[in-house]
Amino acid sequence: MIYRPIVLDEEISFSKKKFIVSKTDLSGKIIFINKNFSEISGYSEEELIGEPHNALRHPDMPRGIFFLVWQTLLAGNPISGVIKNLAKDGRYYWVISDFEVKRDMNGELVAFTAFRRAAPDLVIEEIEELYEIMLSIEKKHGMEQSLAYLESFLDEHNLTYPKFIEELTTPKGILVNLLNIFKRMLR
Ligand SMILES: Cc1cc2nc3c(=O)[nH]c(=O)nc-3n(C[C@H](O)[C@H](O)[C@H](O)COP(=O)(O)O)c2cc1C
Repeated sequence: MIYRPIVLDEEISFSKKKFIVSKTDLSGKIIFINKNFSEISGYSEEELIGEPHNALRHPDMPRGIFFLVWQTLLAGNPISGVIKNLAKDGRYYWVISDFEVKRDMNGELVAFTAFRRAAPDLVIEEIEELYEIMLSIEKKHGMEQSLAYLESFLDEHNLTYPKFIEELTTPKGILVNLLNIFKRMLR
């Protein structure tokens, strides 16, 4: 049983070289975490194995993003996302997470994995703005409306969700972001 900590407005930063890895069963129960996961989240292996992954769910994260993650994984496809996680001590850490599916020899889904790396500040800045809007829509009108907003946001930028995440999280994407920041400053 995991107790929800009091949420602190304090960030945990960690080395770009540290990959945080976990594996879940098809219901999202954690079946494996690596050492970096324990070190950064503050939870030991004993505390987390067998627990649902939403133990790390941060209240600033819109439900719609996890809906997309689950919908895609259960359909057997990989997906990436930018996630704000809640550590055991109430602090937060932002990650870029690549979710993947594992299959057995017959091609049946057996598990899901997440490979996470530290999210650069520019990525956080951009996604935070979007998540804040999605979250406030969710609170007032529910998840379907926040997903509709995400869809219109992507349409406006002529992007699909995977392309948006790719643009945002690859170095090329960061250059584009820098350009946008300069453009905003010039406006
Ligand atoms: C492989 C895998 C890794 C996940 N990692 C995280 C994570 O690091 N943080 C998180 O909040 N949710 C993660 N989730 C999503 C959770 O299962 C859950 O959907 C989410 O925390 C929202 O919780 P809720 O549906 O109870 O609101 C992961 C799911 C999978 C399949």
